[in-house]
Amino acid sequence: MGTFAHEIYDVAGIGFGPSNLSLAIALEEYGDAGRNGSPDGPGAIFFERQPAFGWHRNMLLPTATMQISFMKDLATFRNPVSRFSFVSYLHEAGRLAQFVNNQDFFPTRQEFHQYLEWAQASFTDRVHYGSEVAAIRLPAGVDPASAEHLRLEIRDGSGTRTVDARNVAISTGLVPRLPDGIQADERVWHSSEFLDKYSRTDPTGLRTVAVVGAGQSAAEITRFLYDELPHARVYSIIPSYGYCVADDTPFANQVFDPSAVDAYYFGTDRTREAFWQYHRNTNYSVVDDEVIRDLYRRSYDEEVRGVERLHFLNLTRVDEVKRAGDETRVSLLSLLDDESPELDVDAIVFATGYEAMEPSRLLGELDRYCLRDEAGRHRVDRDYRLVTSPELRCGIYLQGGTEHTHGLTSSLLSNLAIRSGEIAESILGRRPAEALHG
Ligand code: FDA
Ligand code: NAP
Repeated sequence: MGTFAHEIYDVAGIGFGPSNLSLAIALEEYGDAGRNGSPDGPGAIFFERQPAFGWHRNMLLPTATMQISFMKDLATFRNPVSRFSFVSYLHEAGRLAQFVNNQDFFPTRQEFHQYLEWAQASFTDRVHYGSEVAAIRLPAGVDPASAEHLRLEIRDGSGTRTVDARNVAISTGLVPRLPDGIQADERVWHSSEFLDKYSRTDPTGLRTVAVVGAGQSAAEITRFLYDELPHARVYSIIPSYGYCVADDTPFANQVFDPSAVDAYYFGTDRTREAFWQYHRNTNYSVVDDEVIRDLYRRSYDEEVRGVERLHFLNLTRVDEVKRAGDETRVSLLSLLDDESPELDVDAIVFATGYEAMEPSRLLGELDRYCLRDEAGRHRVDRDYRLVTSPELRCGIYLQGGTEHTHGLTSSLLSNLAIRSGEIAESILGRRPAEALHG
């Protein structure tokens, strides 16, 4: 097993999606150049398992727009004059005036993806793509009390290597969720693999397709399939009576303000419950108003034209999928009449959401030094550092998986810039003197 470099890095980031990209920017802007050989020391290194940068690429549907303002980019809320802002990107791309003429806060996901790619291009000296972190552990033979650093095991094209860092920032993202008993294959897809699976399927063979779920992913995929497959019947299997709108009105949207993190973190259990009770509909199992209206318009147009291609099976859940050769039979559970109808499809997309990031698997043995609350969830400090037993002095920071401590923004982009700044400050503030001057 080879080592990565002889240095001990200040921080090793696991995953290089928007969260750790934003952290790389914050570290850079706080004066820690982070480049190997810089006078400030080795700084930061990041590992990303994808071969190149990609932000939910399989959902980059042509008309999908962002669900947050472009100003909630990688840096602006922390540093409004950052050279990594979305505005700075537009300026460099020569589209600033045209963008403003649109008078729209919400760029397409494709444009935002271009912005993220542009930003990550400044960090190629610190990011290793095609590199999966398999484990984090203590160096062999070192007990936690004397451990100055943690050791990461990295798998890449050339085998397994290790890297040492005083802190790790885990940012491995959401985990796709399929209902119990459902297995993905070439006809049964999760939304997170949608465009990849779709592009590998002959569209003429897709005569009946179904989409499961009533969230943003489901609505966007239903619209896409309906438009892309003019010969196909499209079934939308939705557990509610109709799609529910994502509340992004101004008062409700305050739950994504940086100050809401303090309200949530320092609040009582009742405070936190109230956030979920009243504001879950800002993000989960909800759809943007524009997409809902767009779908309804298609449905109404069919009535006018006497066509029946788009079917909404409401108050319906998927119970089981039976696969045999080219056949895919879906057993449904109707909440309207307790019937269990069946539907034969050529492909079915489960837009059934995601589990939150959970770092236990990566932490392995180290997890026993990470303290948990009465409900068995990791305890996390306000600066997103896992609370560990006192002997472990290395820092393990989470970007994601902190909904129970920091609230709704945990898995979203809204508070990225501020959160990354808080983590960067914490890491740099705890840096040992020898790392700063050695
Ligand atoms: P993200 O999942 O983006 O990145 C994690 C990275 O870690 C991935 O690139 C993965 O490959 C890598 N990785 C995982 N395990 C690894 C390992 N062991 N070693 C190395 N690398 C590893 N939110 C919002 O606020 N506004 C929006 O508009 C949207 N839009 C949106 C669209 C879609 C289709 C989805 C599914 C989600 C959103 N979201 C969103 C929420 C989404 O979580 C958010 O946009 C970011 O992806 C969060 O960024 P992260 O970097 O935390 O995770
Ligand atoms: P989601 O909001 O969690 O929605 C999952 C849906 O699947 C829910 O309606 C759920 O119903 C339903 N479901 C689960 N099991 C089912 C079953 N067996 N049968 C029928 N329905 C079932 O997930 P998502 O839509 O993927 O959204 C996840 C995140 O990604 C959100 O933050 C969203 O905003 C974001 N996103 C953004 C964009 C964009 O920026 N344009 C696009 C897509 C997604 P219940 O409510 O009953 O559980």
